[in-house]
Amino acid sequence: MDVLEAIHRRRSVRDFLDQPVPDSLIWQVIEAGTWAPSAGNMQAWEFVIVRDPAARRKLVDTTDAGITARGGVKTQEWLMQAPVIIVVCYDTKRMGARYGQKGRELMTKLDCMGCAQNMMLAATGLGLGSCCVVGFDPQALKKALPIPKEITPLLLVAIGYPAFEPQPPYRLPPEDVVRLVI
Ligand SMILES: Cc1cc2nc3c(=O)[nH]c(=O)nc-3n(C[C@H](O)[C@H](O)[C@H](O)COP(=O)(O)O)c2cc1C
Repeated sequence: MDVLEAIHRRRSVRDFLDQPVPDSLIWQVIEAGTWAPSAGNMQAWEFVIVRDPAARRKLVDTTDAGITARGGVKTQEWLMQAPVIIVVCYDTKRMGARYGQKGRELMTKLDCMGCAQNMMLAATGLGLGSCCVVGFDPQALKKALPIPKEITPLLLVAIGYPAFEPQPPYRLPPEDVVRLVI
């Protein structure tokens, strides 16, 4: 699949088949993540891979329904279907030492978002579905799972085989979002 096709085909998938994802594919997805651009090449990302259903339950209990709230459900229960959840975390040590406050507060997170995007595009190319999730409490997650104290969870990337391909949502056309050409 070429890169533009993967960009257009990637959808947020929240319905997964009950089918395990081979470890080799998960490592390919993570390896693709590590080739994202990185401020000063400080590579602020670190990962926690959650596959165990009991650990996944603890993780899901730290989520909030946010925009996906339906029928009084208070957590993002759909995540229980995802065979793998990659917790993308940041470590401020290297970035903070090089770039100070801006490094700690902004660049670490920008690194991780680029990394997550690479992972989701790689997942698409490998025939997997994915969805990134920020609707959770990072501190509660650190208490719920044995995540090393020096790293902070930023977002979750749920991965699995899609039960179906969601329809593309509406996107503003480029002419509506380019505000200035000079
Ligand atoms: C920063 C970020 C946070 C998101 N958080 C959530 C989330 O907490 N729960 C969820 O179901 N989807 C989440 N999404 C997925 C968006 O809802 C989704 O990207 C959007 O609806 C567009 O659909 P598409 O990804 O299929 O193009 C998030 C996406 C981004 C970029």
